[in-house]
Amino acid sequence: MADEAHWSSRTDFPGAGRVPVASAATSFSEVETQEAPAISVALEVNGAQHQLDLDPRATLLDTLRERIGLHGAKKGCDHGQCGACTIHVDGRRVLSCLSLAVQAQGKQITTIEGLAGPDGRLHPMQQAFLDHDGFQCGYCTPGQIMSAVACVRERHAGSADEIREYMSGNLCRCGAYIGIAAAIQSVAAQGD
Ligand code: FES
Ligand code: FES
Repeated sequence: MADEAHWSSRTDFPGAGRVPVASAATSFSEVETQEAPAISVALEVNGAQHQLDLDPRATLLDTLRERIGLHGAKKGCDHGQCGACTIHVDGRRVLSCLSLAVQAQGKQITTIEGLAGPDGRLHPMQQAFLDHDGFQCGYCTPGQIMSAVACVRERHAGSADEIREYMSGNLCRCGAYIGIAAAIQSVAAQGD
């Protein structure tokens, strides 16, 4: 039995066999806390340059929130399933929880904080969310708006069905979908 402690029985998985994992009661925690040597990363966020020493495994979302201090992009699931962390990289919508910061070097990163004009004037999509009650608690809203801007720019807002399809990666636990779709349709109708 003592030896058994050093093996997992993954017999449910064809071909997986028996995999040594348990010596690992200690090694798992060692691996989790092991720090990779920091690397120097240059990021351009909302037009501002940031030079950071980062763990090469740092996600773009954690870097934005914890190192740069931009908390607009939200960590909903951290697994690419809710869209709360959506930002733009070179104008395309990206799930920042699934992106490494190092991958974004040399690219233009835009977060919800960079969407309004330099004079503070709201982006038409931000205004439309206000006008059409496109939010309740607001937790999903930055990701919804960033995704919505890209959805219109991609010409994927031609109908309510198309909007629903191309916004389906952005979940709203408050169920503000009717207002969100109306906001997007109104911006699309303006040709923005
Ligand atoms: Fe990135 Fe949910 S936090 S998709
Ligand atoms: Fe609350 Fe969308 S407004 S989760």
